[in-house]
Amino acid sequence: MSHVLHRSVNGAYSVAVGGKGVMLYDAQGKSYIDASGGAAVSCLGHGHPDIVAAMHAQIDKLAYAHTSFFTSEPAEELAEHLIARAPKGLSNVFICSSGSEAIEACLKLARHYFIETGESRRTNFISRRQSYHGITVGALSVGGRMKDRAPFKEMLLTGHHIAPCYLYRDRRTDETPEQYGLRVADELEAKILELGPDTVAAFVAETVVGATLGAATPAPGYFKRIREICDRHGVLLILDEVMCGMGRTGTLHACEQEGIAPDLMAIAKGLGAGYAPIGAMLASGRIVDAIRQGSGAFPHSQTYNGHPLACATALAVQKVIERDDLLANVRLQGDHLERRLKERFGNHHHVGDVRGRGHFWGIELVADRASKTPFEANLKLNARIKQAAMARGLMVYPMGGTADGTAGDHVLLAPPFIADAAVMDMIVERLGEAVDAAIADAL
Ligand SMILES: Cc1ncc(COP(=O)(O)O)c(C=O)c1O
Repeated sequence: MSHVLHRSVNGAYSVAVGGKGVMLYDAQGKSYIDASGGAAVSCLGHGHPDIVAAMHAQIDKLAYAHTSFFTSEPAEELAEHLIARAPKGLSNVFICSSGSEAIEACLKLARHYFIETGESRRTNFISRRQSYHGITVGALSVGGRMKDRAPFKEMLLTGHHIAPCYLYRDRRTDETPEQYGLRVADELEAKILELGPDTVAAFVAETVVGATLGAATPAPGYFKRIREICDRHGVLLILDEVMCGMGRTGTLHACEQEGIAPDLMAIAKGLGAGYAPIGAMLASGRIVDAIRQGSGAFPHSQTYNGHPLACATALAVQKVIERDDLLANVRLQGDHLERRLKERFGNHHHVGDVRGRGHFWGIELVADRASKTPFEANLKLNARIKQAAMARGLMVYPMGGTADGTAGDHVLLAPPFIADAAVMDMIVERLGEAVDAAIADAL
């Protein structure tokens, strides 16, 4: 009997014992193509020799120094590297250990900024339904996955939610994608006016929605309108690029493709590629300057902030991505993956939508394509697909609640940036078999 408190306390988990490139191996000797990078984490695959070497080198020098006493070379270099490539206006990096922590830091810094600038009435945060921003109490409060929130609702901060930008289900037939995008973006303005503009601190959104909607890309013009609305009302824009950022969509930051820059941005996952737990908040110069001219401190710190080993690891990951021009591969093989997915699932009776960018793709399952009716939630189709895929040596990231928070299923793919066309072909082949087997089993 395991003493680990597993996600599912009665679950039987295979033991992962090794990994090389796109493959993971369990203790039984079974191999799996890691087509989801875990949860969109392992962007360099497993056992990358350059990352392992950089970690060894750092640990031989210095594993840890507390940030109330020292800064460290890896933290300084990582921050310099990130800011040199950051969206316009971002000037400083707060380094933590996970995506949830990065979001918590964004919420706290947004609030702190308005205290520093004498607008302390700004305490409200607006976010979107069908979003995931992490599992800690602050992150859960802005999150829009109602199932995760339900057991803890009495403990959460008041969250204000508007509609997601969900082209497949929510665009009316009489709207172009652009018109739809503007209509849902305008919900932000309506919510700000309802709450009172001087009470709203920030709007939080995933640039491309990951776990809850399965790589749902924004409508053209959506984020430009969001940026305008935020600016009009002095509301900060927090982009959550924990899953979709750091190259996943083919550009280093997903927001580059939207032509906007946030005031605060959360990154994690691909930042350290799973070799070390690391997340970060990137903050705009305007916010940092306000603190510099005010109290001089951001009262939010944790023991493992700026961890030197994690920073050296992330720096090595980011340098390898750049040295090997892996984002070019993400764009090239992302196009190949899109073609293959559309060939295999484009006319599938039970796949309503294939969507995504770069190495970040989702397929949405439906009972009926014409009406977009989802499968009954109690069929747990997403769990069946996960199991069928694992049985075929494939790791994908399926999730339920896609359509309305309860019903609906999708499968998320986030292959490593090193994946080639042959790997993509194998992923689609195994996924096709797994989807068909799981549906046959469920019906
Ligand atoms: C968009 C997004 N934000 C935040 C998080 C939270 O990250 P973590 O699980 O590292 O705390 C996740 C995790 O899946 C995520 O996908």
